[in-house]
Formats: sequence, C-alpha cells, structure tokens
Amino acid sequence: MVRKLVAGVLLALPLVVTASSGGEHLEQANTNINSQASLQRGAQLFSNYCLSCHSASYVRYRRLADDLGLTEAQVLENLAPTTEKIDDMMVVAMLPEDAETWFGVAPPDLTLVARSRGVDWLYTFLKSFYLDDERPTGWNNVLFDNTAMPNPLWQLQGIQAAVFEERAGHASLAGSKLVYAQTEHVLSGLEIIEEGIMTEEEFDQAVNDLVTFLEYIAEPSRIKRESVGIWVLLFLAVFTLFAYFMYKDYWRDVK
Ligand code: HEC
Repeated sequence: MVRKLVAGVLLALPLVVTASSGGEHLEQANTNINSQASLQRGAQLFSNYCLSCHSASYVRYRRLADDLGLTEAQVLENLAPTTEKIDDMMVVAMLPEDAETWFGVAPPDLTLVARSRGVDWLYTFLKSFYLDDERPTGWNNVLFDNTAMPNPLWQLQGIQAAVFEERAGHASLAGSKLVYAQTEHVLSGLEIIEEGIMTEEEFDQAVNDLVTFLEYIAEPSRIKRESVGIWVLLFLAVFTLFAYFMYKDYWRDVK
C-alpha cells in the first residue's frame, strides 16, 4: 500500500515540475471581494475603460445596485450608458462585426474571464502593456504577445516601453552539427517613459479594484455564500456547545 503510494507520488512528480516550470511570472492581485469600496471603484473603472469594447452580458445593473450597496439611480448615472435601464445587462453598444473589423478579433465577453484566466493573470496583464510600433494598435503586452487589445489604462498608468537585453550569440552542438545562435534581443523588463495621472501605488490599487470587480462578476453569489457560511459555522459551534451540555446532563445520574 505504502509502496504504491510512493510510486504514485514519484510518477506524478515530473508532471508537477513541468506544469510549474513553463509558466510566466505573475504578480499577485490580492483581491478582497468583500470590500464594497473596492468593488464600487472597480465597477466605475470597468464602466469607464472597458465597457466601450467588452460586455459583461450576464450581469444585470440591478444586481450591481444590490451587491455593491448603491441606489438604482447611482448605478444608472455612474455605471451604465445613458440609454440603459436598471434591468438591462451590461452589454456593449458596439456590434461584434464592427469590432472584428476594427481589431481583427471581437473583444470577448468578460463576465467569466476571472475564472478562465485567474485574477493574478488579469492583474499582471493589465499592467504589462508597452509601446510597440510594429503592432497595428501601437501596443503590445508581455503576457499576451501580439494582443489585438490596445492599452485601455495608459492615461492612468503612463506609457511603458520595453527594455531589451542582448543575449550574445554562441555555438553549440546539435547532434554532430555545430549550430551558431545569432545575437538575440530579449525583452527583460518595462520602464515608464511618460508619467500617467496616477502614481505607481495608485495605479496598482486601481488595477486591484478592477480585477476585484471582475472576480465578483464571475461569481456574484460568492459574497453572500461566504457571509452565510460564517453564520452557519457560528451556529454549529454554539449548537455543539449546547449538545455537549445536554450530553453531560443526561449522563450525570448514570454511573
Ligand atoms: C478598444 C477596445 C478595448 C478596450 C477599451 C478594452 N479591451 Fe480588452 N480586449 C480587446 C480586444 C480586441 C481583445 C482581444 C485580444 C486578442 O484576442 O488578441 C481584448 C481582450 C481582453 C482580455 C483577454 C481575454 C482572454 O481571455 O483572451 C482581457 C482580460 C481584457 N481584454 C480585459 C479588458 C479590461 C479589464 C479592459 C478595461 C480596463 C479592457 N479589456 C478594455 C479590446 C478592448
């Protein structure tokens, strides 16, 4: 039994190693979906900077009012385009065909993107745009190479440029052949070449808020589920205490 277990773990080990080694470096998003202030700021950023291209078509404005602690009027005024009503979904006005003509790819719906990509990926992605003359939009992204999306937050973050490192050419053996690798330019980091209206700290907070909002819309019931969960656990703890005293009481005379 033990031997089988050990063999199993050993067999699985290379899989774990390969899965973790290929990954890109991701920054930690550290989101807190129980912070209503963060969710409110994130919703505002989403509405200002993303909703012009992306929908979140499973999200109804009314639900935002309920979960984010806003009035319906506040939601309609601040988060929805002018023609929208409180029971509408967060759908972009742009036609998918037009979007495809403009960008080559239609911007995907973002309702579930926090689940498919994960919050750390989103956080790093939104911070990793840099200028690239060779791209049609003028932008590229470290995490999503040659993305069709232009940097939506450049006014806040400022403009980043890529820093390249020269990796010298070298000769190596491939089988019996001698191969010469050319000198390569490898992207080694990003630097701000034009300041944005936010400091680095403020921008990190803004992206954190935005990603918190994306995490919330991917599973809106989570906020309620977690707060109900705490009460259930408290109830069980108190109930256990009572059950224990009753048990003591019942058995007191039986000895
Ligand atoms: C000008 C239009 C435009 C704006 C504004 C925009 N995006 Fe995008 N976005 C795109 C396009 C186009 C793609 C598809 C990129 C591709 O596939 O190369 C995309 C892709 C993405 C993806 C990758 C989805 C995936 O899993 O492949 C994420 C995440 C994303 N956008 C988030 C955002 C967020 C968050 C904002 C607001 C801060 C935003 N976008 C603003 C056009 C836009």
